Amino acid sequence: MQVFTKRHQLESQVANWHKNNLKIGYVPTMGALHAGHASLVEQAIAQCDRVVVGIFVNPTQFNNQEDLEKYPRDIEGDVDFLKPFGESIIVFNPSAREVYGNHVKSMHFDFAGLEDKMEGKFRPGHFDGVGTVLKHLFEIVRPDKAFFGEKDFQQLQIVKKLVEIENLDIDIVPCPISRADDGLALSSRNKRLTEQERTEAPFIFKTLAEAKKLYPANAPTAIKQWVEQEFEKSKILQLEYIEIADEDTLETATSFEENHTYRAFIAVFAGDVRLIDNLRLN
Ligand code: PAJ
Repeated sequence: MQVFTKRHQLESQVANWHKNNLKIGYVPTMGALHAGHASLVEQAIAQCDRVVVGIFVNPTQFNNQEDLEKYPRDIEGDVDFLKPFGESIIVFNPSAREVYGNHVKSMHFDFAGLEDKMEGKFRPGHFDGVGTVLKHLFEIVRPDKAFFGEKDFQQLQIVKKLVEIENLDIDIVPCPISRADDGLALSSRNKRLTEQERTEAPFIFKTLAEAKKLYPANAPTAIKQWVEQEFEKSKILQLEYIEIADEDTLETATSFEENHTYRAFIAVFAGDVRLIDNLRLN
């Protein structure tokens, strides 16, 4: 398995693949890899001739310096983790300078309102950072298909919008959420949970699954209130937000209409670790 750190190495490899009409798949990540990332890599291998797995902790998408500093980094562990994929993948692990040049700075995007709510509201500037890094990385990797997890559902919708507004010929492939046996959505941040927090954390998915049972007999506000009350019982987990929104527009649902798909979105703190999850209601 080859590991490239220089942009020019990857660019000449990609040019060669394109010349040979090979379909290129791309799985961008920030490392600290787990089975959720691996499921994206598996899908990419199944659907493409060549696959690039990106590992880059993008500084511009962290609205909080401490969160950036504490983000788990383990490039050797990640390379070992990917070794079973062997020659079917290439790893791209660039420095910030390779991606951004001398200006590690966000551009500003208009994602038609998708960026204002939930993660965008609670992490100001986050999606400008995600949009900026992916615009740069897509230019380097020039994939035919890029694979994104529904774990970050708002990000997935924003990436689809980015591709549309930047006129990029990239097929964005959504991939289902991988969960631990107890329901907790896999996340690089789970590594930072204490034993007690890890024991309590499956409550997040359990509550979402219970909330789903209240659909469609109860109104969105009633379901959200019920979730808020449930979290008041927990001494370990602090609810940041619960939202029920139309899956396509991410607009808050005020009632449930036919021919729309709705999803519950949640962000929770366990100590200083911020966890997100979501579940389709219909
Ligand atoms: P990261 O959090 O490392 O996630 C990389 C990809 O893995 C994302 O598409 C994310 O949705 C997916 N993923 C993470 N946990 C998952 C799970 N449990 N099941 C399924 N997919 C999962 O998302 C980012 O990095 C960054 O914002 C990035 C897109 C790389 C831009 O910097």
